[in-house]
Amino acid sequence: MIQTIRGTRDILPEDIPLWHRIEDVAREAFRRYGFAEIRTPIIEKTELFARGVGESTDIVNKEMYTFVDRAREDRDGESITLRPENTASVVRAYLQHKMFADRSPGELTRLYYVGPMFRRERPQAGRYRQFYQIGAEVMGDSDDPAIEAEVIEMLDWFLRELGITETTLLINSVGDATLREEYLGRLRVAIEPDLSRYCADCHHRYKTNALRVFDCKNPDCRPLIAGLPTITDSLDGASREHFEQFKAHLDARGITYTVQPEMVRGLDYYTRTAFEIIGSTGLGAQNTIVGGGRYDGLAETLGGPPTKGFGFAFGLDRMVMALPETISRDLRAAGAPDIFVVCMGEAARQHAYHVVRELRRAGLVVILDFADRKMKKAMALADKSRARHALIIGENEVNEGRYALKNLTSGEQESLAVSDIIIKLQRN
Ligand code: HAM
Repeated sequence: MIQTIRGTRDILPEDIPLWHRIEDVAREAFRRYGFAEIRTPIIEKTELFARGVGESTDIVNKEMYTFVDRAREDRDGESITLRPENTASVVRAYLQHKMFADRSPGELTRLYYVGPMFRRERPQAGRYRQFYQIGAEVMGDSDDPAIEAEVIEMLDWFLRELGITETTLLINSVGDATLREEYLGRLRVAIEPDLSRYCADCHHRYKTNALRVFDCKNPDCRPLIAGLPTITDSLDGASREHFEQFKAHLDARGITYTVQPEMVRGLDYYTRTAFEIIGSTGLGAQNTIVGGGRYDGLAETLGGPPTKGFGFAFGLDRMVMALPETISRDLRAAGAPDIFVVCMGEAARQHAYHVVRELRRAGLVVILDFADRKMKKAMALADKSRARHALIIGENEVNEGRYALKNLTSGEQESLAVSDIIIKLQRN
């Protein structure tokens, strides 16, 4: 029997109501804050991510699904990659479609996306090779920290609306590109004396991009890393001022946060503000639900004009896991049918087609049993369908135009005309 590929999975019908709920609340948040949806391809040129996300990151270095797309066997193909994230693609689209043209000073483009991403990571609970993100990007010529606070306020509303309250917002500033160069030099000097005690991955990071040692999860490296100078301690005046203003905007909105100087995020495009939202319950080791930050300069890296950007993405898989159990249970129950229709005999079934059509036109969720079976068996199926009511249609019912509606929770049964069934169930 053929099964799913390692790190991928089917999202089964019983979980779909949870996914829909998260998607619906996210779309509502985006609507209120003026974000428009964009859908970009799932495959892009490898170069987009190599340049955008950064050659030295784990994502580009070891986690991308990259293929050579050979148009003809005898020609050199083009290297293409299943997207590991979507910020680079959205910035590419912003540039490709010249969304910056006719831009007034301070005018912002607000885009959001929903879809699968691919990273060849070691699979575990909450970490998949195909996972789903919902994300948003704000682009323009302004790097006002008020934009950052507004985006985080939107996330705050979204999480509350879903009933996810046990979260922590971690923030940091990773400075600008010039500072990064200077800081990287100092970081290498600090690592060097102990270099032999770091893991092989860190050796590689030391050579390619020393900042990435902060991503290392190796328990032998952690104590060494804890003693290194952080980028936050070395911020230049302008980045420091930006960070102070960002915090003041969060304070003014009553949003609480923790400053986490070691948080550098796993992608190279970040400048200044970086943030993560950590969930507390039920998530295990993969408890980072949201990640985001500022990426001024990414557009230039991709060949575009100077552009500022700020955004985030959250993992839908992890957001589903972060939903409180009581809420998940209610969402699953809400997906159940209103009515399971049981017909006694062929004449009743012919009649039932019309009844069922009327009920559905009134917006009720109705399942019609097409098979002939004994009453007991039919009622067992109605229970199994989790329907709230069974509607029994037999010869008498057809003649009278009234049908037996049984509440499957209370057992209470009454005889009603279609119009009364609609009134009764719509009221519920
Ligand atoms: P990221 O931190 O790489 O950022 O991913 C964002 C979120 O996607 C994570 O916090 C996590 O919830 C989810 N995620 C990542 N990898 C996996 C995985 N293997 N399995 C399940 N969930 C996963 C970005 O992707 C940036 N593009 C975010 C961004 C947008 N920054 C600015 N704009």
